[in-house]
Amino acid sequence: MTAPRNQAAWLDKAGTSLRVGDAPMPTAGQGEIIVKNAAVAINPLDCHMQDLGVFVQQWPSIFGCDVAGEVYEVGPGVQRFKKGERVIGHTINLVSGRPEDGAYALYTVVRADKAAILPNTISFTDGVVVPFALEAAVCALSLQEAGEALPGVPLPTLGLPFPSLDGAYPSADKVLIVYGGSSSTGSMVTQMATAAGIRVIAITGARNLEFSKSCGAAEIFDHKDIALVEKVVEAVQKSCLDFVGVFDAISTAAPYAHDLAILAKLGGGHLACTHPPPTEVPDNVKAGMIFAVNDIATPVWQGFVTAALESGKLKSFPPPTVVGKGLEYIQEALNMSKAGVSATKLVVEL
Ligand SMILES: NC(=O)c1ccc[n+]([C@@H]2O[C@H](COP(=O)([O-])OP(=O)(O)OC[C@H]3O[C@@H](n4cnc5c(N)ncnc54)[C@H](OP(=O)(O)O)[C@@H]3O)[C@@H](O)[C@H]2O)c1
Repeated sequence: MTAPRNQAAWLDKAGTSLRVGDAPMPTAGQGEIIVKNAAVAINPLDCHMQDLGVFVQQWPSIFGCDVAGEVYEVGPGVQRFKKGERVIGHTINLVSGRPEDGAYALYTVVRADKAAILPNTISFTDGVVVPFALEAAVCALSLQEAGEALPGVPLPTLGLPFPSLDGAYPSADKVLIVYGGSSSTGSMVTQMATAAGIRVIAITGARNLEFSKSCGAAEIFDHKDIALVEKVVEAVQKSCLDFVGVFDAISTAAPYAHDLAILAKLGGGHLACTHPPPTEVPDNVKAGMIFAVNDIATPVWQGFVTAALESGKLKSFPPPTVVGKGLEYIQEALNMSKAGVSATKLVVEL
């Protein structure tokens, strides 16, 4: 049998197009698996990595955070996976800098504690939308200990419980606002918070109200509604629940203005952002930025993901848009991501 040949979509330097070419065949180290990728997903972070070289530690680079495929090799110490099993995984080139940890290749190293079996009923194309957003959602909702996302930028510490499979909800008395509920991150935070028993009030574009509802949001408001702040505040007050704060998946100037107006009327709370938070926030607002690679997600990967996908408690949302089949389509998918998407995740099949 001939040895498999690995190929990758390489980034040679910031601001250039990806180049498809041969790549070393990775081997699985302690606690790692090698995944033969059947589908990879695009995240906005990848666009920043390509354009600006942020987080790139080694050139040329292979980046990308989401894979779905079959286990090709199992490293020492890994008990949860066998060769040939269908999995999804969150790849961590972002922190390791190693090209073999980037998703945009035929074979990728995945840490076993950032992977889960993908039920047979879910295609690789659907399943690949989950991993990075899932870990981002756990980081947004459940961190308790102070830390930094970037130098001088604190992590959010909402300290909410993990999602539950059995419906035992220790946080059934809480309400959270999710700004950007139709985004990949916002829809996953909505799903995970709902699965922890938290009432979610979401803010999306007008065409995505129903989508956000299907993620579990109890009430949804259009971010262009001129009475947005008043309506969201009223919904929180009417719930008579303990107000946690806002998760803002969009984290740009207009959403921040709404977030701060809502928080001011509700007496403050957490403001968990996907980018550095506003520089000026009142004392009663605890603002932070998530960093979506964190071992806090391990229990969720190990104990929740597969069973929740099987039962339908966790859905592969937002639905994928397949850009093409083959590594050469990743550049086109990145270009589409830069142009903006609505309630979908761009996927390339391999
Ligand atoms: N810090 C971290 O660790 C981390 C982790 C993950 C993501 N991020 C960042 O988080 C951001 C979101 O990522 P993503 O993958 O979730 O994005 P995404 O899925 O590509 O976001 C697309 C969505 O953004 C919504 N949107 C755009 N402008 C909006 C506005 N002004 N108000 C409300 N919604 C708006 C659109 O909603 P409608 O179509 O409904 O209008 C669309 O559905 C990106 O900037 C990404 O880089 C950071």
